[in-house]
This record gives sequence, structure tokens and C-alpha cells, in this order.
Amino acid sequence: MTATVVTTSSILDLDTDALVIGIAAGKNGPVPLGGTQTLDVALGGRLAQVLADLGATGKAGDLVRFATLGMLPVPIVVAVGLGPVTSHADVDQVDVDHETLRRASGAAVRALAGTARVATTLALAVSPPGPDQLRAVVEGSLLGAYAFDTFRTRSRSDRRPPVGEITFVVDDAAEPAATDTVRRAAIAADAVALARDLVNTPPGHLPPAVFAEIAARHGAEVGVDVAVLDEKALADEGFGGILGVGQGSVNPPRLVHLSWRPAGADPTGPPALTLVGKGITFDSGGLSLKPAGAMEWMKTDMAGAAGVLAAVIAAARLNVPVTVNAWIPLAENMPSGDAIRPGDVLTLRGGTLVEVLNTDAEGRLVLGDAIARAAADSPGLLVDVATLTGAQIVALGQRTSAVMGRDDAVEQVVAAAGETGEAVWPMPLPPELRKVLDSAVADLANVGGGGSRDGGMLVAAHFLSAFVPDHIPWAHIDMAGPAWNAGEPYGHTPKGGTGVIVRTLLQLAENIAGESAPRSEPDKQITGE
Ligand code: BES
Ligand code: MN
Ligand code: ZN
Repeated sequence: MTATVVTTSSILDLDTDALVIGIAAGKNGPVPLGGTQTLDVALGGRLAQVLADLGATGKAGDLVRFATLGMLPVPIVVAVGLGPVTSHADVDQVDVDHETLRRASGAAVRALAGTARVATTLALAVSPPGPDQLRAVVEGSLLGAYAFDTFRTRSRSDRRPPVGEITFVVDDAAEPAATDTVRRAAIAADAVALARDLVNTPPGHLPPAVFAEIAARHGAEVGVDVAVLDEKALADEGFGGILGVGQGSVNPPRLVHLSWRPAGADPTGPPALTLVGKGITFDSGGLSLKPAGAMEWMKTDMAGAAGVLAAVIAAARLNVPVTVNAWIPLAENMPSGDAIRPGDVLTLRGGTLVEVLNTDAEGRLVLGDAIARAAADSPGLLVDVATLTGAQIVALGQRTSAVMGRDDAVEQVVAAAGETGEAVWPMPLPPELRKVLDSAVADLANVGGGGSRDGGMLVAAHFLSAFVPDHIPWAHIDMAGPAWNAGEPYGHTPKGGTGVIVRTLLQLAENIAGESAPRSEPDKQITGE
């Protein structure tokens, strides 16, 4: 984990190995932003010229690096672009959206891998320089420092180690609140890192029982109750979907229940928020086997589970004052002599009989069980998260998650994502697509017969909807593409597991807590008499 420091020191007094500064795109070239005046003086007033000579533009995504050649105590400066100059006067701050700031912060720290200590002035580069801006800089910087090196031999790796310590330079006015802002942002970044680690872990190292143990360990550390149902308990309690999907594997399935209850919460009351996360630790497709290429990244099929676990752990660490529950169905989808066959019928939790026409549509089978169980507690809001369909990627690409479900719930998720800068988009549940799931022999089929792919993501959501009673506010997030970055790193997003949705789920919990917080009494005004 990267250490964090907050300071109001001048950059001349910083004992650090590299300095990150913000620049904007001005009419006549790059414009150095707030926090760079001392640097400019030390360079004899030539900072803007040096940046222009290096080819810096100041546009969002721009990044240049230069050595200070002994003119400053800090040997390396990295300048990142924050986009166009936004003020008319000679104010050296830009008004940028938080995600631009987060991405620039992340790109700078990632570019500095191999540097032990980094200081960043980006919180001074924006206007107004408030706590939300600082939070974006901290989140972006820490997310950009992430690396997954667990399975590399150090002596055989030429990878530069991630930045070890980041100092956030803030102004005197921001200083009193800054330490808490940094602490909270670091908890969110830790949670994203946990989700990334779990997704990146090789599937042979993370069978259902091991995931469940990890969940139990993290829960115990932060005061979250964790219960694990093994295959025997799953059979006793009628979880036929989880058992069916898991039966082809030598690694038995699990269902993990997490419960975060703030001090004083009524243990019998309904949870304010219940999360459900798809935890297929490896998806081979089962007997409806995937082609080799499609299987290469199927260790990512537990990203929903990882995201949900990480969000609950973070909610507890932040002491979010509402009850947050999670149900995490875990199974490995493998072909074998014991595996379910296309044509088999499974009895899901609550008694729904499901005909499995395609064993590769396994996520909805484990989720049907878990969602039915979660809904029985009548949560104030139920959100499931899954790498559910390739159709999500066809519809929205690799970086935008889809949100479906009941309107109010979808709106809450979209609003929370808007606050965290995570890309999500609402999608419909066209009623006519429901009937493709009519089965010739059972209550419901798990795919449209005859291999129809039309609206595949929406059909999957229809399947899940069958397990949520009408009165429950429910949203379903399909993040098949966004959970994994197959391309090069960008902004604060590394290659591999991205940890998307964790911050949105956490924001959702905080928003619900904010709404339900008892309003403070309005000031009584004494008028007359
Ligand atoms: N885990 C996959 C979906 C997926 C695809 C996740 C790509 C991440 C990247 C899911 O279990 C699956 O195989 N879905 C099938 C459903 C089909 C059989 C109706 C799909 O999308 O092809
Ligand atoms: Mn599948
Ligand atoms: Zn799957």
C-alpha cells in the first residue's frame, strides 16, 4: 500500500523524489497552474517555456517529464494536462470535472513507477480547491500507484516498483480538513485495490472456498459479520442454481453473507442496502464450452463478487451509518462428467424451476439464488453486480457498464456513478424480450432458445427480474467489459482487473446514509417579544 502525507509546505522544502504539477492548454501553449510559482521562480521564470519546448500542450491526457538539473531540490517534475484554461483573468487554476483530475493524477503517479516518493500539487491546480477536488486527486493518485506483482519473481522482473509514498500539497485553508479527506479517499482506493487483486489472482489460486476465506478474514478485521454456506448448507437451504453451476468442478461452491451494521442499528430491521455480486471464479462455459480465446480472461468472472466484498469492507472502515448486506454466490463453471447438461432442470431458491439450455449462461443461475435470498430481507435497495453478458460489450463497449432494473433504483445507481466518475448507462427492459425465456418444460429457461442473441444483456436482466418481488427497488449492473482492461493502462486504470463499480457502490451506501440521516433541527429564530 502506498503511504500518504499531507503538507502545506512550499515545494522548495519538500523532501521528495519527484513533483507532479498541473498545466492547462492556453491560447499560446501550456499554462502552469497553481502550486508552480516557486518552481517557475527557481527556473528563472522559464517554466512555461520549458514546458512548451518539451512539447507539452496542457490538454487532458498530456504528460511530460523533465529534470530540474540542480535548480530545485526535487530532481524530477512531471507535468500533466488538465484541459483548456477556464478563467479569463490571470488566475492559475482551472475548473475541471473530478474525473479529469482523477485521471491526470493517476496517469502522473503511474508514469512515476520506480520513484520512491512523489509529491503532487494537483489539488492546488483547480478551482475551487475544495475537499472534493482533493479527494479526486488522492483517489486518482493512489489508484494510479496500483501494481499487481504477487506472481512475479522480483529478481526476474524488470518492472519498476510502484510509488511508495505520496505527499499531497494543499493550501492553508484546506489543511484542517485535508487529513480526513485523504484518509477517506485512501479507504476507497484500498477497496478498489482489493477488488483488482482478487480479479487479477489466477483462478487456480482463488477457488470459491478460498474467496470465502478471504472475505471472512477481511470482514473480521473491520467488524463485518461473515457467514459462509458450504455445499451441504447450500443443499439444505435450496440453492440449486449455485450447486448446479458448481457441480462440474472439483472445487465446491460457496455462498458468502456479509453484514455491516453500524453501532446501534436494529439487528432485526431490514438492511438499507443489499448488494449481490456474481462470483464465478472461473467460467469455462461448462459443457457449452467457450472457445480458448474467450476463456483467457474468464478469471474476471468474479469481479462482481470482488466489487461487492470490497465495497462492504470500505463501508465498514468508513463507518457508514446504515446497514449494508451482501450475498456473494461463488462457483467454478467447469465441464466434467458431473457437470450440468444443456436440458437439465435446476430448482432455484424459492422453488423456481429453471431449464438450463446453455451452461455458459451460468451467472444468472447463481444470481437467481442469491437475489431471491437477498430479496427475502426486504432491503431498502437491492443492487446486483455481474460480469454477466458478452452482449454488454457489444452494446456499450469495454468501458461503460449498463444499469437495468426498476426506475428509481436505476436512477440512484446512475446518480452515484455520476459522483464517482465511473461510466454507467441506463438500459431498458423491453417487455417483449421476456417471453424468449419461456421454457418448453420448466418455469423459465436460462437463455432464449434457438441461439437468439438479440438484446442478450436485456434478456439476462429479465431472467434476474424473475427473482425480485415487484415491491423491491432493484438495479442490475452488467460490467462484463469494464471489469477488465485488456488494453494499455489509461488514467488511473491499470491493465487487467480495473476495480470498477467499487467506488460507486460505496457512494451509493453513503448517499443512502445521507438521506436517512436525521435532519438537524432548524435554528429556532427568536422573533419579537
Ligand atoms: N461470464 C460470461 C460473460 C462475459 C463475457 C464476461 C465476456 C466478461 C467478458 C457469461 O457467463 C457468459 O458466458 N454469457 C454468455 C451468455 C449466453 C450464453 C446467453 C455470453 O455472453 O455469451
Ligand atoms: Mn458463462
Ligand atoms: Zn460467466
